Amino acid sequence: MAKPIVYVARRLPDVAVRMLSGECEIRQHQGELPPTRDELLAGVARCTGILSLLSDRIDAEVMDAAGPQLKVISNFAVGYNNIDIEEARRRGIAVGNTPDVLTDATADIAIALLLAVARRLPQAAADARQGRWKTWEPLGWLGIDLQDRTLGIVGMGRIGAATAQRMHGGWGTRILYTSRQPKPEVDARFNARHVPLETLLEQSDFVSLHVPLDGSTRHLIGREQLRRMQRHSILINTARGEIVDQDALYEALRQGQIFGAGLDVTTPEPLPPDHPLYQLDNCLILPHIGSATDKARNAMAERAAANLLAGMRGQPLPFPVVQPPVEAGPSTERNGG
Ligand code: NAP
Ligand code: GLV
Repeated sequence: MAKPIVYVARRLPDVAVRMLSGECEIRQHQGELPPTRDELLAGVARCTGILSLLSDRIDAEVMDAAGPQLKVISNFAVGYNNIDIEEARRRGIAVGNTPDVLTDATADIAIALLLAVARRLPQAAADARQGRWKTWEPLGWLGIDLQDRTLGIVGMGRIGAATAQRMHGGWGTRILYTSRQPKPEVDARFNARHVPLETLLEQSDFVSLHVPLDGSTRHLIGREQLRRMQRHSILINTARGEIVDQDALYEALRQGQIFGAGLDVTTPEPLPPDHPLYQLDNCLILPHIGSATDKARNAMAERAAANLLAGMRGQPLPFPVVQPPVEAGPSTERNGG
């Protein structure tokens, strides 16, 4: 019998292809860049499974292009805002993601951004390299201390908690947070307080964003929210670019309304090199590298392949976002990302 076809939207750590090759015919996009829309639509034709990346928009058109045999979409990411979840659910297509295994790597990048912006590392390093380091400067490159500070975590989930852990454990930082539900275990662990977003913005020295992108979080941080932040405060975004109104952020940074921002995610991605945010000394931008460690990416590849295999076999996904009924079980959802 012919093997089911899976479309793999990019080159991935080898483990994914090793896991899939026994059971599937793999149709893999080989380009360095994401497939174009036309390549994606052609590539998924007659596929039973799609292994997508966060840069691939998987909507009704792609599901139609795949055909009615499509059983599973497995995202190589914990976030799944690139997938039309409602449409997949309506069609009974399983959707999976890769939670947990990238939590530490992403929290590390949030802390790295915070330290770099607080201590003005990009400016200091550029000055050293470009000959502007003339002497030991009593008044030069002054940054912000991390001691005796308050960190506001917007979205106290897996990565939010790992970020809070690093700051609370390392610098004894006070922790405020928002999430849809208060979290008594988090309150106890970090002596943290669940507060409204406005309070968090007004009382935090550092604000780190960890909510998923959806209708409730798009432009969650806009002009009004930035106005509430303190002048010495720093905004870190490792979640999704669209959670911040980037024009409002540019103005706030340019006018010194906040001290700085560290962004691992932007709108759009990649952010074009002539974007005005790059001109600001107090803004550090990374090319979405939160999960970019060998360990995290290998584990993500394993989870993505495991989801794909389970979905194609009609079994429950090990890491489901949408799980259509499987034999006895009702429809369930979890792993909010
Ligand atoms: P998670 O465990 O699901 O945490 C998300 C948290 O956001 C949950 O605590 C949830 O609250 C909260 N939340 C959801 N909607 C909210 C709203 N409207 N207002 C306030 N809080 C809200 O997800 P995670 O694994 O930490 O990942 C978080 C996000 O990080 C992902 O969705 C992805 O976009 C991004 N990410 C980026 C990178 C990168 O490379 N930069 C890597 C990994 C992930 P409840 O718990 O109360 O429901
Ligand atoms: C990366 O951004 C992810 O959502 O895994």
